[in-house]
Amino acid sequence: MAILPRVLSARIPMALVGVAAVVASAAWVTSRGNPARLDKPRFDEVIADHAAKMLEDGRQIFRFDTFGDEAFWGDALQLHKAIAGEKHGGVGGGVSPLPETLRQQLQEGKVNLDDPATTLALLKLNAVVGVTGFFDGNGNIRSMGIQCAFCHSTVNNSLAPGIGQRLDGWANRDLNVGAIVSLAPNLKPFSDLLGVNVETVKKVFASWGPGRFDAELDKDGKAFRPDGKQASTLIPPAFGLAGVNLHTWTGFGSVTYWNAYVGATEMHGSGTFFDARFNRRDQYPVAARSGSGNTRGTPDRLTSELAALHFYQLAIPAPKPPAGSFDPAAFERGRGLFNGRARCATCHVPPLFTEPGNNLHAPSEIGVDAFQADRSPTHMYRTAPLAGLWTHQKGGFYHDGRFATLLDVVAHYDTFFKLSLSEQEKSDLIEYLKGL
Ligand code: HEC
Ligand code: HEC
Repeated sequence: MAILPRVLSARIPMALVGVAAVVASAAWVTSRGNPARLDKPRFDEVIADHAAKMLEDGRQIFRFDTFGDEAFWGDALQLHKAIAGEKHGGVGGGVSPLPETLRQQLQEGKVNLDDPATTLALLKLNAVVGVTGFFDGNGNIRSMGIQCAFCHSTVNNSLAPGIGQRLDGWANRDLNVGAIVSLAPNLKPFSDLLGVNVETVKKVFASWGPGRFDAELDKDGKAFRPDGKQASTLIPPAFGLAGVNLHTWTGFGSVTYWNAYVGATEMHGSGTFFDARFNRRDQYPVAARSGSGNTRGTPDRLTSELAALHFYQLAIPAPKPPAGSFDPAAFERGRGLFNGRARCATCHVPPLFTEPGNNLHAPSEIGVDAFQADRSPTHMYRTAPLAGLWTHQKGGFYHDGRFATLLDVVAHYDTFFKLSLSEQEKSDLIEYLKGL
C-alpha cells in the first residue's frame, strides 16, 4: 500500500483489486510456463500439502501416540499385569475386552471371546481403542500405554456392542477409568502424589463411575465435594471444537493448551507443560508441591506432536443425528424458542453454540454451585457447545451430569430464568437439542 499513491488507492479501490488479481495469475502462468520453476510449488500447494500431512499425522497421534506414557501406566503402575491376569504372567483375573452387554450374550452362546487372552491378542493387533500393549520377544506383555482415544473415541457397534469402526472425538461414556486404574498392582505413584494411603486412592477412583474422570485431582487434591459427593466430571466429546475459544468445562485454555496439559500431566507422557497458574499454593497445593505446572519430561515426545494433534481435532466435525431420532416439526418450533423467547442463543450462539469471544460465565449466571469452577484458574463455567449433543446423553448433562435428562436441563433454565415455558414448549426445545 505504501508504494501506491494514496489518491489512487482511495479513488479506485476496485481497480486495485483487479490489479492484484492479474498479478497473481501472471505469476501462476509464469511458474507453470517456465520449466526452470516447475520444481517450486506455489505456496497454495504448499499449504494444501501441509494440511493433508497435518491431518494424517494428527489422526495417528490422537489414536496411537502414548507420548511414552507406558513408563507410567505400565512400568510404574504395572497396569498391564492386571489386564493380562495371572494365567498370562500378570495378576488377578485379567480384563475382558468386552462390555458387559456383549459379555452376557456371549455367556449364553458359550463363545469364548470373554477371556483376557483375547484382550492380549487384540492388543497385539493394536485393535483396542485407546490402549497400546508393549510385548517382549516371547509375546508376553511387558508394558502398556494409553492414548487420547481411550477417553475420546468410541466404536459404531457395527459388529457387536463394543466392536466396530472408530468414532474419533466421541465421548466414551461407558469406559470406567477409575475402575480400570484401580486394578493397577502399584498405586503408590498416586498415593505419594496426593499424600494419602492406597485405600483412599482406591476409594476416590471407585467413586467416579463410567464416562467420568477427574483431570484436576492431581493439581488441587480435591477428591470429594464439600457435600461428600464425588468430584469427577463427565468426559466431554472432542469434536466440533473449531471456532470455540476456551475448552474444558471450566475454560482452562485452548484445545492445544489442554492437549499439553493432558499429555504431560494426566496421561504422564514424556514432555513439556508450562502454566505458572499452578504454582498458587492456595488453589493448587498438590501441583505447587509436585511442580507439575512446570513439567519438563525428557526426551520431549509431546511438543512436536501438538500442532498436528490440534489440527486433527479441529477437523473433527460434530456428527449429525440420524434421521428419525428427533421430530423435525418440533425441532423447528424448538429452534424458534431457542433463538427467541427462551434466550438460549444469547449464550449458545448458533452455529458454534458457544459465544465467539470469552465464552465463560460465573456459576451464579447459570444457577449452579461454584465447586468445579473454583478448581479452574477461571473460576467460571464455559458455555458448552451443543452440536452433537445427541451422542453424549449417557451420564447426564452439565459438567458433572447433575441433570440426568434434557428435560431436567430445560426445567432448570425454566425456573432459573423464569421463562414460564409450557410443557409443549419444553418438549419442543428438547427435540431441537436432540437434532443439533
Ligand atoms: C482418562 C480420560 C482422558 C484422556 C486419556 C484424555 N482426556 Fe481429554 N478430557 C477428559 C476429561 C474428563 C475432560 C474434561 C476436563 C475438565 O473439564 O476439567 C477432557 C477434556 C478434553 C477437551 C476439551 C473439550 C471441550 O469441550 O472443551 C479436549 C479438547 C480433550 N480433552 C482432548 C484430549 C486429547 C487430545 C487427549 C490426548 C492427548 C485427551 N483429551 C486425553 C478425559 C480424558
Ligand atoms: C448465561 C448463559 C447461558 C444461557 C442463557 C443458557 N445456557 Fe446452556 N449452558 C451454559 C453454560 C455455561 C453451560 C455449561 C454448564 C456446566 O458445564 O456445568 C451450559 C450447558 C448447557 C447444556 C449441557 C451441555 C452438556 O454437554 O452437558 C445444555 C443442554 C444447555 N446448556 C442448553 C441450554 C438451553 C436449552 C438454554 C435455553 C433455555 C440455555 N442452555 C441457556 C450457559 C448458558
